[in-house]
Amino acid sequence: MASLGVNIDHIANIREARHTVEPDPVPMAMLAELGGADGITVHLREDRRHVQDRDVELLRQTVRSRLNLEMAATEEMMAVALRVQPDMVTLVPENRQEVTTEGGLDVVAQLSTLAAMVEKLHNSNIPVSLFVDPDATELEACRDSGARWVELHTGRYAEAEWKEQPYELARLNESTAIARQFGLRVNAGHGLNYQNVEPVAAIPGMEELNIGHTVVARAVAVGLQQAVREMKALIQNPRPSFLFGQTIG
Ligand code: PXP
Repeated sequence: MASLGVNIDHIANIREARHTVEPDPVPMAMLAELGGADGITVHLREDRRHVQDRDVELLRQTVRSRLNLEMAATEEMMAVALRVQPDMVTLVPENRQEVTTEGGLDVVAQLSTLAAMVEKLHNSNIPVSLFVDPDATELEACRDSGARWVELHTGRYAEAEWKEQPYELARLNESTAIARQFGLRVNAGHGLNYQNVEPVAAIPGMEELNIGHTVVARAVAVGLQQAVREMKALIQNPRPSFLFGQTIG
C-alpha cells in the first residue's frame, strides 16, 4: 500500500502572498501528521518564493514522520541539505520562470554532476530520490547515478484528456516495474488529486505519493465555513476592548 507525503509548499505560498507569519507551515505540518501524513515534503526554491530556510530548519526539529527536502541540484542547496539533514532529498529541475516544477530531471544529460551529488548526500547518510519522467532511458540513468529512489512525474497523467489517461497510467505502471527491475524504489507525484489518485496508488510497487496543491485546496474548502463563522461571531459579539480609554506614551 502506498504511503502519503504531504507537500506543504502552498501553505507557505499563502503566507508569502502577504509576507506575514500566517499560515505557518511548521504547525500545519503537525496537523498534516495528525491527519495521517506519512511524510512532509517541502521544496526550498532558489528564489525562496514560498518555503523559507527558517521553515526547513524548524521542520527538521518538529516533523515526527519523515522530512523530504525537494531541491535543485546546486551547491547552495547541497549546503542546506548537509546542514539540515532531511530524511530524504529529492532532486528536481528548477526554472525561475515556471509556476511549478514542469518536467523531470534530464538525468542522462547531467549524469556525472548528479552522480557526484548523490554520492555526497549518501556519504552524509541522506537517501536521494531523482524526480524524472516515466521513461526507461531516464530510469537507466537514475540507476547509473547511484540514487536508490526515483519519484515519477505524474503531471502528464494528471493533465491528460480522459482518452489519453489510460496510456499515461500504463507508462507510470511500466516505468514503476522497470525502475524496480533496476533495483530502484519508486515514489510519484505532481498534479495528483482526489479524482485521479486511486489508479496511481494501486500501481504495484509504488511506495509513496507526494501530494500538495489539492490537499491545501481541500483544506480551504472544508475549513472555510468554520473560519467565517468564527470571524462573524467576533464581529457580532465583540468583547469590550482593552484598547479603548488607553493613552499612548
Ligand atoms: N513532487 C514534486 C517533485 C513536486 O515538485 C511537486 C510540486 O511541488 C509535487 C510532488 C506535488 O505536486 P502537487 O502540488 O501538484 O500535488
